[in-house]
Amino acid sequence: MRVLVSGGAGYIGSHTVLSLVASGHDVVVVDDFSNSKPTVMGRVESLSGTHVPVHAIDLTDAEKTERLFAHERFDAVVHFAGLKAVGESVAKPLAYYRNNLDSTLSLLEAMRRHDVPRLVFSSSATVYGEKAPVPYREDYDFLSSSSPYGQTKVMIERIMADAAAATDGLKVALLRYFNPVGAHPSGQIGEDPQGIPNNLMPFLAQVAVGKRDKLVVFGDDYPTADGTCERDYLHVEDLAAGHVAALQHLDAMAEPVRAFNLGTGTGTSVLQMLHAFERAVGRELPYEVGPRRAGDLAAFWADPTRAQTELGWRAEKTIDDMCADTWRWQSANPQGFPGA
Ligand code: NAD
Ligand code: WQD
Repeated sequence: MRVLVSGGAGYIGSHTVLSLVASGHDVVVVDDFSNSKPTVMGRVESLSGTHVPVHAIDLTDAEKTERLFAHERFDAVVHFAGLKAVGESVAKPLAYYRNNLDSTLSLLEAMRRHDVPRLVFSSSATVYGEKAPVPYREDYDFLSSSSPYGQTKVMIERIMADAAAATDGLKVALLRYFNPVGAHPSGQIGEDPQGIPNNLMPFLAQVAVGKRDKLVVFGDDYPTADGTCERDYLHVEDLAAGHVAALQHLDAMAEPVRAFNLGTGTGTSVLQMLHAFERAVGRELPYEVGPRRAGDLAAFWADPTRAQTELGWRAEKTIDDMCADTWRWQSANPQGFPGA
């Protein structure tokens, strides 16, 4: 298939481009580089051994998006593009609604005009909100999220379901990621957050490489085994493989739209993750326990049964793989990707 990957220069997108190429697909990337660097694409090309055309377009620009679809034929779209920082979305809700919703609407309109029948979307476990029973299952109906970022995912899932119901032949897979971490085993590409990382794994990696003094553990008085929060971390390589599996499953899907959890089904605590990272680095890492972070849930993980039975996908890599690969990437690229 000829696949348009929106946000293909980003963290998950760049790994998925490699998996798509390795599975025999032709890939075209569209990205405005608002949260990624163009130099990512040179690494992706050298790792894949293929030329990957890139269009530097802001997808909220509906006219430019339309022009892209008018000039190129696509069999499918994998839609990663979006803003993703939970805290920033609370401070700048309108920027998040504008970017994430408008880019999705431009894409959906162009897909409809040009009869592109397949769509895979980056959703998130955040759509399960605060009240869903753990493990999270896709048939839970009361989707909501406490942040504007998460609300854009809830809304986009709804918009895509309505569009698929109204468009003959359109099939949509909504992939609800749990906590993606890790990097390509080559150490050539990985997560490159701008500024202070919001998330645990990139923060740990920056402590290990000496860019941050210490990890602050956000609370150790949760009702969990060691008192720290538990999450379902999955390797970005497994996640990328999940997109290929979903894309290849779409034509066989009975419904126009279907959600799939992509997670391992296992929770890991903050302290367990810290100790796994210490094993990868080969030394202890400094940390202290601080107050809870507003909005954090104590513990959640996926029920990944649907993805296993319907997509034939399961996460294979361990927490130690995730830490070893993150460390290989971070230690080889302490400043992230080079500038343009
Ligand atoms: P990322 O920021 O690394 O990648 C997103 C890419 O989209 C970036 O390269 C950015 O430049 C691009 N982009 C943003 N707005 C755009 C626009 N208007 N037009 C064109 N390009 C635009 O993020 P990521 O971690 O790779 O996440 C990819 C997707 O997965 C996002 O939709 C995110 O919400 C979702 N997701 C991520 C996580 C996670 O923990 N990383 C978890 C669940 C869901
Ligand atoms: C993991 C655990 C923190 C940093 C977020 C989004 C979610 C999804 C994935 C996009 C928590 C603790 C963290 C630190 C810490 N993204 N922590 N010290 O919050 O589970 O999920 O990313 O859809 O929507 O909310 O991930 O990596 O931020 O935190 O103790 O410096 O690590 O409290 O328990 P989270 P995270």
